[in-house]
Amino acid sequence: MSEARPQELAQPILGVPVPAAIFLTVTVRPGAEQEVRESLADVPGLKRSVGFRIPEAGLSCVVGIGSRFWDRAYADLPKPRNLHPFIPLTGPVHSAVSTPGDLFFHLRATQIDLCFELAHQLMRHFEGLVDVVDEVHGFRYFDQRDLLGFVDGTENPDPPVDDIAAALVADDPLYNGSSYLVVQKYLHDLTAWDALPVEQQEQAIGRTKLSDIELPEDQMPSNSHVALNDISDEDGNDRQIVRDNLPFGRVGDAEFGTYFISYAADVTATEQMLTNMFMGNPPGNYDRILDFSTATTGCLFFVPPIGLLDDPDAYAAPEDVDDGTVNSTSSLQADGSLGIGSLKRSGSK
Ligand code: HEM
Repeated sequence: MSEARPQELAQPILGVPVPAAIFLTVTVRPGAEQEVRESLADVPGLKRSVGFRIPEAGLSCVVGIGSRFWDRAYADLPKPRNLHPFIPLTGPVHSAVSTPGDLFFHLRATQIDLCFELAHQLMRHFEGLVDVVDEVHGFRYFDQRDLLGFVDGTENPDPPVDDIAAALVADDPLYNGSSYLVVQKYLHDLTAWDALPVEQQEQAIGRTKLSDIELPEDQMPSNSHVALNDISDEDGNDRQIVRDNLPFGRVGDAEFGTYFISYAADVTATEQMLTNMFMGNPPGNYDRILDFSTATTGCLFFVPPIGLLDDPDAYAAPEDVDDGTVNSTSSLQADGSLGIGSLKRSGSK
C-alpha cells in the first residue's frame, strides 16, 4: 500500500458528474471532538448500507475536515500544509465571506433519494454531536447548465489523468490522495440577469450561451468569468481545479443558486481564482458574474485519505522518540512509505 497511487488512497472525489447531490456543512459541539473523530470511521459503512441496495445509482460520500476542528480533534497529527480557515476577501464591490464549518459531507448519486437517506443516517449517527449549519440539495439542470443558463463544468480537467493531477495531493507521502475542498453557496439575482441581453451575458461568462463555445481571445472581456479563472503559473502551465457545481433553489422564495464546490491538490490555485474574481485582476477588474451572484457562505476543508478516517492514529506523530524530539514525518518509515499493510504504527495509541 505504500506504493499506492494517490487515487487508490483517496476518498471518492472524482467521477462522472451525477444528477443529484446533498451538501452538508456541520459544526461539532464542544466536548464531542473525540467521539466525532471515532465515529467518522463508520461513514464508509453507512454509505455501503444505503448504496449497496441500488449499486447502479453510484452513491458516494466525501468527508472534509475544517481547520479549526482539525486543531481541536487531530492535534496529534501533522497539520496538512494548506489547511487553514477560508480566507475572506473584501473586494472593491463584492465580498467573499468566510463562514463556520467543522465537517463537510458531499453526497452524490444518480438519484436524490439515496443522498437523502444517507444524509438522514449520518445525522442519526452524529446525533447530539454536531449541528447542521448549511444544507443544500443540488440538482442537475438541463444540459449541465447552471441557473444563469450556461453550461457549467466544460473546462474541467479531463479524466482520468488531468483530473487526478489537479485534485489529488501526490507530493506529500503522509497525505498523498488527500485534497482541498472549497465551497461557496451563491445566490443569483435572476431578475437582473434575465434583463441582460444574451450577448452581455455571454461577455460576463466568456462563452456562448447556446453552443457553449469559448469567446475568441479578441472578444473575451478581461472581467469575464473565464478570463479571470483561466490561470497559469509562471512557466505557463495551467493551474487547474476540479469543480462539481450544482444548481439549487426554491421558486416560492425566488431563491436561485449555484453551489460552487471544488477539489484541488494545491488550494492556492483556488485561492488565486477567488482573488481574481473578488479583488480583480488587475485589482479592481472583478468578475462580472458577481454583479448577479452573491456568495453567502465560504469554507475550506481538508479531504483526508480514506485511511485517515478509518484509523487516524496511524497518521499520528510519535509522542516521544529516543532523543525526545517529535518526528514531523509521523509514522513514515525511512523509505518514505507509511510502512503499511496495517495502517497502524507499532506502538501507536
Ligand atoms: C456563481 C458561481 C459560479 C458560476 C455560476 C460559475 C459558472 C461557470 C461557467 C458557466 C463556466 C464556463 C464553463 C466551464 O468551463 O465550466 C465556468 C468556468 C470556470 N469557473 Fe466558474 N462559476 C462560478 C464560480 C466559480 C468560482 C468561485 C470559481 C473558482 C474559485 C470558478 C472557477 C471556474 C473555472 C476554473 C472555470 C474554467 C475556466 C476556463 O479555463 O475556461 N467558478 N464557471
